[in-house]
Amino acid sequence: MKLRGPVSSALICAAVACTGYDRQSVLDPASPHAASTRQLFYFMIAVSVVVYVVVVGMLLLVIRNRRVAVDDLQSPAREEKAGRIIRLALAVVVPVLFVFLLYDFAVARGVGEMPDSSMLTIEVTGHQWWWEAAYDDPVPHNIFRTANEIHIPVGRPVRIKLASHDVIHSFWVPNLSGKKDLIPGHKDELVIQADRPGIYRGQCAEFCGLEHAKMSFWVVAEPVQDFSRWVERQRQPAPEPTDSITAAGRAVFETGSCATCHTIASTRAAATVGPNLTHIASRLTIAAGALPNNRGNLAGWIVDPQTIKPGAKMPPNSLAPRELQALLAYLETLK
Ligand code: CUA
Repeated sequence: MKLRGPVSSALICAAVACTGYDRQSVLDPASPHAASTRQLFYFMIAVSVVVYVVVVGMLLLVIRNRRVAVDDLQSPAREEKAGRIIRLALAVVVPVLFVFLLYDFAVARGVGEMPDSSMLTIEVTGHQWWWEAAYDDPVPHNIFRTANEIHIPVGRPVRIKLASHDVIHSFWVPNLSGKKDLIPGHKDELVIQADRPGIYRGQCAEFCGLEHAKMSFWVVAEPVQDFSRWVERQRQPAPEPTDSITAAGRAVFETGSCATCHTIASTRAAATVGPNLTHIASRLTIAAGALPNNRGNLAGWIVDPQTIKPGAKMPPNSLAPRELQALLAYLETLK
């Protein structure tokens, strides 16, 4: 469970409490799908190593016997021998490639299987450059939205419905499943499952513009009771301000430019251009995994997002210090 992974994860990890973060790796599977993908990888590597050793061995043999006269090479006996070797090589190579192909198909089929239509369903939409997640429910009132962080219950398959708002993105949580593209105008699905609790990093795996590299997210897999508690909290509207500072902060949010892009449930802010911020204080990171979620980073992000993530849709905000502090105090209450 200790993080030894990519630099960005390490930086995030250095700033938030590090325990519980999983190394982002296809070789550290936490689900049946990811485990079968790793098995396929090891199988292909093993066969490739054998092929490599045989080829290099043959090459060395040829180098050792290279002093064969050209006349000798063209003799019928030599040609006959060369033909036999080529036929033998084909007889070995073609079945090996077929085994690779069939095994690959079998794994892909397993990864793409939809075991149960009644399972938890999350609609994930890719935006330049963040992830929107809507938790489906037969009761419309229970549907809620979050951004860049997906919570799932441990040990249960979860259906992820994929869509794109703009360009092609790709949903990939290496520890949990294979990757799948989000194609504009085309709906697709993927099943993820985590067999052990953990915080798994996911990222966009298809180049989608300037900030493709800063389009990551977290999958938080937790025991069913914890997950249910999280869902209940997310369904609640934002808490009311309890003092004059947080009340002023909410006013800054509602009357300033924040409300032209973001939603905070139960306030006048109801725009859907940017992430839903109803429970922003409960999230691990901000700006699609670009920064740990703390007051300093939030302040920097609000005032000057273009330095942190050049090209992002969020414009700079010139707020008076009092307004900024009130806004930060209010956002910190949105647990
Ligand atoms: Cu979205 Cu790359």
